[in-house]
Amino acid sequence: MCGIVGYTGHREAYPIIIKGLKRLEYRGYDSTGVALNNGSGLNVYKKKGKVAELEEAVIGKDLHAHIGIGHTRWATHGEPSDRNAHPHQSASGKLAMIHNGIIENYTQLKKELISKGYYFESDTDTEVLLNFIEEIRKNNQCDLEEAVRIALKRVTGAYVILLIDEDDPATIIAARKGSPLVIGIGKGEHFLGSDASPMLEYTKEVVYVNDYELAIVKPDELILKNLGNEKLTPYVQKLDLELAAIEKGGYEHFMLKEIVEQPQTIYDCLRGRLDPIEGTITMSGIQQYAEQIMNANRIVIVACGTSWHAGLVAEYIFEELCRINVEVEYASEFRYRNPVINKGDVILAISQSGETADTLVAIENAKSKGAILLGVVNVVGSSIARTSHAGAYTHAGPEIGVASTKAFTAQLAVLTMIALKIGYLKGSIPQERYMNLLNELQQVPEKVAWILKHSAPIKAMAEKYKDARDFLYLGRGYNFPVALEGALKLKEISYIHAEGYPAAEMKHGPIALVDDQLPVVFVATRDAYHEKVMSNMQEIKARKGKLIAVITEGDTATAELCDDYIEVPEADEIVAPMLSVVPLQLLAYYIGVAKELDVDKPRNLAKSVTVE
Ligand code: F6R
Repeated sequence: MCGIVGYTGHREAYPIIIKGLKRLEYRGYDSTGVALNNGSGLNVYKKKGKVAELEEAVIGKDLHAHIGIGHTRWATHGEPSDRNAHPHQSASGKLAMIHNGIIENYTQLKKELISKGYYFESDTDTEVLLNFIEEIRKNNQCDLEEAVRIALKRVTGAYVILLIDEDDPATIIAARKGSPLVIGIGKGEHFLGSDASPMLEYTKEVVYVNDYELAIVKPDELILKNLGNEKLTPYVQKLDLELAAIEKGGYEHFMLKEIVEQPQTIYDCLRGRLDPIEGTITMSGIQQYAEQIMNANRIVIVACGTSWHAGLVAEYIFEELCRINVEVEYASEFRYRNPVINKGDVILAISQSGETADTLVAIENAKSKGAILLGVVNVVGSSIARTSHAGAYTHAGPEIGVASTKAFTAQLAVLTMIALKIGYLKGSIPQERYMNLLNELQQVPEKVAWILKHSAPIKAMAEKYKDARDFLYLGRGYNFPVALEGALKLKEISYIHAEGYPAAEMKHGPIALVDDQLPVVFVATRDAYHEKVMSNMQEIKARKGKLIAVITEGDTATAELCDDYIEVPEADEIVAPMLSVVPLQLLAYYIGVAKELDVDKPRNLAKSVTVE
């Protein structure tokens, strides 16, 4: 949450910062701001709203500078407003700072500062930290770097901060704990960002700053230190990311582009790993820990949101194929619950961004108790990937639409491969089923392409149901988490209240909601529970609910029950979620579009939830 950009070098900073902020808008978009230092003072411009609104507001203003910082906000402390937008300026006006994260002890720091005569223009924790730094600099007669170091030792919470000083028109001071920070290295220039997207066209050489590190960034110099003031050697990595991957490529929205990309992203995820002819799955990270996983007492999956839904599907798959006890936990609950973790437990974190604060802290806690940590992560080099002992990347490419789509199917592909590999090594999958499932997995990309090709009716369905007040999504077995995911997508994108439920559980409460106005979406592909799901459909029909279903191609008996249906190709139930979720992603997308909403940036959401 919150996107941060910084630049120091020989170019004009403002255009680089604005372009970078647009790329980071997925992280937060309720207000925007920049601070520029042109050598004769700081110019700070900020505005409630998206980056485009700031651009309008600064027309005709002095934007010249070779150093600057910029911020796109997802509000935590204080409503979205011009006043609460970053950058904030210190009481003297000499320092400007942007911040991503939460300073938990800000109330106490604020009290201390108020007793010293400070007053605050905003409701933010950021302004408190900034003035705390300024106060230390004044009191201790030290330089800014030292003041930041002292201040951060007193701070609890998570942060990435970037600071510039009116009297030093070349240096950005940056520090990180718990939120991401990347520094791009150019020739006589440096770029800073919450991820690498703002710097892609300028450099491929980057340094990922670690927790409790402080960077002193000048055009020609990057000094990295720990909070103990010891110099560290920056570890420079090569970026393997092209500009095209973060652009819309002719699609109206990133979300649509990312849904349509799925045949390719699932293929990319399987490529080089799955070999149905040889009967092998190659995943070196998993191979390394195969013994421990096979012999694990249990696997605890921790994740949030869509990734948690992928975890629920994985629970079914692991239990079926590996005969290992699996628990799926909301990371936010797990981290505070003092969970029992025994040696030999395997903790599996699933995360698209690799930066979700709750997931990260949950696995750090588990690591300290001796668990083996595996990560299934999309963003290469992200915090969760680096914290894990081993794991597998999902290789879905950058996901920019705030609602997760292609990351989910790639997560399912990776998790299925891990389960197949472990089950095979353990001998818990019969050889014939194993070979059959490898083939099934191999066919998923072309089956998803088939669904996309036949998806035109979904747009018409979206028009028909866009004014519904509520939706119910139901499924059983492997399709239950898909129902949850369908409901989550709809509420995020269309703001229609939607609930996902196990189909059979519906009669223990939610059936009271059913009337002739309620669309009920069944994930009703042919599997072991199909007859039972059909009975549940009859129960809805008897109460005049509007029946919509995702069904297996050619299943006329189920089709006849429905008001509307969408077909997906026949598939083994283990891979079926990767197919049945796609029409639900499209339904949510088209309903959002029909309601003329900003589907890529739904209200109140942010892509990367780096606060708890
Ligand atoms: C839903 C969505 C969120 C994320 C959740 C976890 O469309 O995007 O629910 O799935 O915030 O994020 P990651 O996977 O980055 O840990």
